[in-house]
Amino acid sequence: MYIFSMVRSGVATVIDKCNKHIPLSRLAIMPETKWTQIEEILKGQHTGTTIHLRGWIYRTRSSGNIIFMILRDVTGVLQATVKKGNLPDAGFEDAFKALIESSVQITGTVKEDKRAPGGYELQVTGLTVVNFAEPFPITKDQSPEFLLDKRHLWIRSRKLTSVLKVRSTVVGAIHAFFREKGFYEFDAPVLQPSQCEGGSTLFEVKYYEDKTYLSQSWQLYAEAGIFALEKIYNMGPTFRAERSKTSRHLSEFWMAEMEAAWMDLSDVVAMAKDEVQYILGEVLQKNKNDLQFLGQDIKKLQEITGSEFPTITYTDSLEILKEKEGMNIEWGKDLRTIEEDRLMNHFKTPVVVTNYPLEIMAFYKPKDEKDPRTALCFDMLAPEGYGEIVGGSQRSNDITTMIHRLKQMGENVQNYEWYFDLRRFGSVPHSGYGLGVERLVAWICKADNIKDTIPFPRTLLRFRP
Ligand code: 4AD
Ligand code: MG
Repeated sequence: MYIFSMVRSGVATVIDKCNKHIPLSRLAIMPETKWTQIEEILKGQHTGTTIHLRGWIYRTRSSGNIIFMILRDVTGVLQATVKKGNLPDAGFEDAFKALIESSVQITGTVKEDKRAPGGYELQVTGLTVVNFAEPFPITKDQSPEFLLDKRHLWIRSRKLTSVLKVRSTVVGAIHAFFREKGFYEFDAPVLQPSQCEGGSTLFEVKYYEDKTYLSQSWQLYAEAGIFALEKIYNMGPTFRAERSKTSRHLSEFWMAEMEAAWMDLSDVVAMAKDEVQYILGEVLQKNKNDLQFLGQDIKKLQEITGSEFPTITYTDSLEILKEKEGMNIEWGKDLRTIEEDRLMNHFKTPVVVTNYPLEIMAFYKPKDEKDPRTALCFDMLAPEGYGEIVGGSQRSNDITTMIHRLKQMGENVQNYEWYFDLRRFGSVPHSGYGLGVERLVAWICKADNIKDTIPFPRTLLRFRP
């Protein structure tokens, strides 16, 4: 909505949403204008009619009295032809001067044209430049580092726009999935006094005269929450001071976690599989164009959505690595990236691996009495080298063992007294897991690097812009 006003200088202006005065002369189009989105045009909904469009100049080239512009808005790109004589001269001159990323409002007639990208073009009859962009710093073939320096501008690229749309669907699907299943959203503090996933990746924060840490996981607080709400979930920023510079690790990422009273390992494994299938289904429904643009094979994802995800044990995985890959991994060693990738050479869908060696697991993971060397825990691995997308477990109810494990790690057990209280007052079997939102988006979007799945990535080497 615009509000008309007359500023003191006597120039008629309109006030936009941000309370800024825009001279009327800058807006060829009146406030009641109905704006069309590019996607509607590409679907053939406006052929032969005159429409109004607003967006940004994606590309432009001129030859004499004709300018070919590619315009973009959030829904796509469209060719616009600006011919001298078809619009007021001032509009043509502005179009001539306008560099890429200038913002524009355009009136024109939609024509079908097989030669134009998308099969349609706009014959322009009116054009207003809202902001003349300065020469855009991002040109072709820039280095990844340069693009990260200019991230605030690079997120408008078509590639990142597509990934961010998929990400938005994924986030929406996670909320929908848990709410449909009767889960409550439950929030934990981001500033926490102690670790959940190992002290070595904690980010320390000055807290008045004391110190605290950024959350590595919502889990420990969720384990308190289930005694009120029984089934809870959350999606929140999660922090790990990862020392590794890999294409899978961020220092700040978003984890979608669930925790539920009365559930055991097999319940949460089934739920994690359901969740990933549900998310994939939503993305396939809402983001076909984006997946296509990103070079993802839609048919392959459809097949995965309709397939059962296998469950194997850690011990099985060592067997597969030995037999099929000739890799001899000593029992008890964690699976590294290389081993996960080689294992996944033999699966087309995500795979759940359960029962990792107890010794290398977090303090809260309980022993599996049926195979006491192992813990009641699981990871879900994605195919094609995208690695672990989900990690979870049943939770230990054995305070003595947990204290012992925490002491081994050099933790101050006093910090966990409140957590042990949860075992003292009506404890029940319970389980949960965390899904790495960026890992999942990377796999779905076929991204080369996890950095491209979050608007402003934070890594070992970067926390700007
Ligand atoms: O396996 P993780 O460490 O599990 C936990 O934190 C549990 N407390 C979760 C729970 O049971 N509620 O992390 C869960 C997932 C991993 O599977 C991975 O997808 C993602 O979080 N993740 C990362 N994603 C990006 N960058 C990192 N540095 C990540 N570390 C973990
Ligand atoms: Mg893990």
